[in-house]
Amino acid sequence: MITNVKDILAKAKEGGYAVGAFNTVNLETTRAIVEAAQEMRSPIIIQITEKTMEYAGGRLIYHLIKNDVEFYAPEIPVGIHLDHGKSFEIIQRAVAIGLPSVMYDGSRKKYADNLEITKKVVDFCHEKGVCVQGELGSVPYLGEIESGEVDWEKYMTDPGQAASFVKETGIDALAVAIGNAHDFFKEKDVPDYARLDMIHKNCNVPLILHGASDWENGRVAEVIKRGVCCFNVDTATRLAFINNLINSVRNQGNVSFDIRKLLGEAREAVRDVVKKKIKIFGSDGKI
Ligand code: G3H
Ligand code: 13P
Ligand code: ZN
Repeated sequence: MITNVKDILAKAKEGGYAVGAFNTVNLETTRAIVEAAQEMRSPIIIQITEKTMEYAGGRLIYHLIKNDVEFYAPEIPVGIHLDHGKSFEIIQRAVAIGLPSVMYDGSRKKYADNLEITKKVVDFCHEKGVCVQGELGSVPYLGEIESGEVDWEKYMTDPGQAASFVKETGIDALAVAIGNAHDFFKEKDVPDYARLDMIHKNCNVPLILHGASDWENGRVAEVIKRGVCCFNVDTATRLAFINNLINSVRNQGNVSFDIRKLLGEAREAVRDVVKKKIKIFGSDGKI
C-alpha cells in the first residue's frame, strides 16, 4: 500500500530499526525492490531522481512504482519519494505528478539560500500534504572529493545550525553528513557519532543517512541508536545490475536474444542486494 513516508519513518524510529530508501530507474529495478520488500515483509521507500524522471518520464516511472505496489504488493507499506531535488521547479514538477514525498537538496548552497528555499519548498509541499526532507552539511560524491586525505570537517552537519534549520524550515526529515559519502568512496573510518548524538538531541525529526551502499552491520546499529531511521542506497543496486548484465553478455554460453532473460537475471541480482540491505537495516518482518 502506498504509505506516507512520514509514517514509515516515525514507525521505524519508534521501533528502533531503519528502512531502506532505494533508487529505481526502470521496470527491472522497481520490480526487484518491491519483490525484495515483499519477500522480507519489510516497509520500504522507493525513490527517483530528476535524472531518472528525464530518463524514464516522471509520470511513467511514478505510476510504474505506484501500480506495481497496488497490483502486486498491496500488503507492503511503500513510500514514493523524490531524491535530491535541486530546485524549486523540480519539486513543483514532482508534486504535480503526484509524488507524496520529496527531498529538497540545497546542501551545496550557502546556508541562507538553503534555508530560504527549503522554507519555500516546505510551505508549498505541506499545503498539499507532501513530506519534505532537507539536507544540511553535504554528503559528498566521488567526483567532489579530493584524493588523499579528506577534510571531512568541511562536509559535516553543524549540530547547532541543524537545530535552527529544522525549526525555521519545518522540514519532516533531515539528511545528515557525519563522514558518510555517496558512491563506493572510502568513508570516514569512524563516523562522527558524537556529532550525530548532538544533532539527534537538537532536532526532533527523523534523520536520514545518504551514501549507505557500503554501510555494514556495526555502523548501522550505532547510528540507528542515534536517531537515523532511513538509509539511502543506490550504488550497490546499480552495480549488482550492471555486473550481472556484463557477466551474462560476456559469458558466451549464456548469450540469449531474449532480453527478458538477461534483464530478468540482473533484476534478481538487484533483488538479492535489496534483501541483504533490508536485513542489515532491521526492517525485515516489520510490516
Ligand atoms: O544520490 C543520489 C543518486 O545516487 C544519484 O542518482 O544519477 O539519478 O542523479 P542520479
Ligand atoms: P550510495 O551512493 O551509497 O548508494 O547512496 C545513495 C544515495 O544517497 C541516494 O540518495
Ligand atoms: Zn543521496
